[in-house]
Amino acid sequence: MFVRRLSIPEPWPEEEPIDRTEWPYTIPCVAAIAENGLEFTHPVTFLVGENGSGKSTLVEAIAEAYGINPRGGRGSMKRKVPLEDRSPLGRHLELELTPQGARYAANRKLKSRSYFLRAETAFDFIEFISSFEYILPGYWQDDLRTKSHGEGFLTVLRTVFSEPGLYLMDEPEAALSFASCLQLVGLFHHLGKTGAQVICATHSPILASTPHADIIELDDDGFRHTKWADLQLVDHWRRYLTKPEFYLRHVIDDSDEVT
Ligand SMILES: Nc1ncnc2c1ncn2[C@@H]1O[C@H](COP(=O)(O)OP(=O)(O)OP(=O)(O)O)[C@@H](O)[C@H]1O
Ligand SMILES: [Mg+2]
Repeated sequence: MFVRRLSIPEPWPEEEPIDRTEWPYTIPCVAAIAENGLEFTHPVTFLVGENGSGKSTLVEAIAEAYGINPRGGRGSMKRKVPLEDRSPLGRHLELELTPQGARYAANRKLKSRSYFLRAETAFDFIEFISSFEYILPGYWQDDLRTKSHGEGFLTVLRTVFSEPGLYLMDEPEAALSFASCLQLVGLFHHLGKTGAQVICATHSPILASTPHADIIELDDDGFRHTKWADLQLVDHWRRYLTKPEFYLRHVIDDSDEVT
């Protein structure tokens, strides 16, 4: 484990004040963290919740606070995000690190094992790394420009998530098939057992089913630790796969088409 707890302490008088009536403090989960903090209790944690519930806002701020580029990439001392360039939440979010987390954060080589992977920028990143004539140390050997999106994505995941590190992800399932999502579950489980910490925002019921993971559901009341079987997301998928027409008739005008 690297990060044990998140909190948003009251700023010192000389620091920028927090306006709780403004975004991002209007997001219920951020307000709840400001009130009581949020504990990470398992090496693998999923953040689950409706669109707009604050998953990306939170994952990006964790990246910034740990010193990982919030647009995605490796942890770096050199590129530590300056306070003034951080998001409003990243400026105030405090990470309580474990001894391992603090040791890795203080050492450039160890810190560079940590990684923030976000689907939106991952493909630009693949292009960039693949454009070099030689293999960059710590990156992949295959020319990912000749692979499909999903294949390339899995190669990146397997390559960069190979040692203990803090691994942050925002909807990595976007490019992945059912079978590839299952592969990722295997990888998450392995990482959790071998000293890494994964914090992953997802809408995928497959990823969220990773054994021994904690699931934090973000909702209108803030957030709560919950079980996979109790997730609204899982309930919707289960019902939808059993009887799609129950859902479709709410979105398709002509009810004859869906019955
Ligand atoms: N820069 C910003 N300024 C103001 N509001 C913002 C900003 N960025 C995001 N928001 C709002 O914050 C809320 C949380 O957004 P966020 O992107 O964190 O949600 P999310 O849970 O990741 O959603 P999704 O599942 O769609 O990815 C949304 O209501 C969004 O409109
Ligand atoms: Mg998001």
